[in-house]
Amino acid sequence: MEREKEAVCVTGGTGFVGSWLIMRLLQHGYKVRTTIRPDPEGHKDTSFLTNLPGASERLQIFNADLNDPNSFNEAIEGCVGVFHVAHTMDIRGIEPEEIVIGRCVEGTLGILKACLNSSTIKRVVLTSTLSNVMNHGTNVDVMDESIWSDIDYCRRIDPKKVTYFASKMQTEKDASEFAQKNGLDLVIVLPSLVTGPFLTPEIPLSVQLQLAMIKGNKDKYAQIVEMSMVHVDDVASAHIFLFENPDAKGRYICSSHELSIFDMSKLLSTRYPEYPVPSEEDLKDFKCHEKSAKASSKKLLDMGFKYKYSVEDMFDAAIQSCKERGLFLAKA
Ligand SMILES: NC(=O)c1ccc[n+]([C@@H]2O[C@H](COP(=O)([O-])OP(=O)(O)OC[C@H]3O[C@@H](n4cnc5c(N)ncnc54)[C@H](OP(=O)(O)O)[C@@H]3O)[C@@H](O)[C@H]2O)c1
Repeated sequence: MEREKEAVCVTGGTGFVGSWLIMRLLQHGYKVRTTIRPDPEGHKDTSFLTNLPGASERLQIFNADLNDPNSFNEAIEGCVGVFHVAHTMDIRGIEPEEIVIGRCVEGTLGILKACLNSSTIKRVVLTSTLSNVMNHGTNVDVMDESIWSDIDYCRRIDPKKVTYFASKMQTEKDASEFAQKNGLDLVIVLPSLVTGPFLTPEIPLSVQLQLAMIKGNKDKYAQIVEMSMVHVDDVASAHIFLFENPDAKGRYICSSHELSIFDMSKLLSTRYPEYPVPSEEDLKDFKCHEKSAKASSKKLLDMGFKYKYSVEDMFDAAIQSCKERGLFLAKA
């Protein structure tokens, strides 16, 4: 462990990204406060957090809910930084769009107000998403942080996911505007599909998508025709790097690899012959679109950040995490 550092707050500690970030922050020597949703009946297993190395001395768990924007105040008070990771992950369009947008925006503004009112917060790092950049349907030479997705285009390409897309977009826009107006130091991370190992008891949604071919989930193939991916440990490292780097400013794309469904089928069928990975022939109805540009992490890399993990690492680790929990898997 590095030398002991001051306290930071991570919202959404029970989630895939939040829990991994907490683990890495503890390893970096931070005192960590995390918020989880209230669980009056005590059904939630948080042992994967409380058992982390360093947790008994340096992890504190608080209750807070985005539906109650003031509920984050206590966890934030006295911290030097906040990593705002929590978000309603409604990728099936279960709740009305305006309810989810309202909750995520108001919850986030509540968190930013608590940061502003505290005399100790130096920086807030918001976990946004690459989908706020890449869904615009126009040809561009470089897909970088200057671009914003177009919500009407999102609505056309994936009506079920539009609640998620719209809530992420509105949250990022309103948070940036609030920070700018009030002089709050806000840095934004835009990860692509987050993959790899996980601490949570269940398979995270994005890892389910990553492993669609390994699990034989044909209904998900349309979503993985062209994938931008990044390892969860690289995502956590990017959050900490951007928190600690005094020059960080604005939005940062965090995405290390691009893979088509055909590349993935080749890689996976060779590496994991024991699973029912479809062949190129099985996938002949899928077509890669003429894509104008790949997501560029240049801004993050130019600051000195380095990705550590290959695509093979992402799959090996995700499969291993599933096996460790007995969560697997169809055999070929
Ligand atoms: N995974 C990806 O591929 C990916 C890619 C780009 C961006 N992101 C962003 O990364 C962040 C974390 O995603 P994830 O993949 O780790 O998802 P996740 O595992 O579902 O985690 C989401 C977290 O948000 C919490 N949350 C949900 N509704 C809440 C509410 N009303 N109040 C307070 N907390 C609430 C969840 O708590 P419960 O456990 O109680 O539900 C959970 O801790 C999100 O902001 C997401 O948009 C993820």
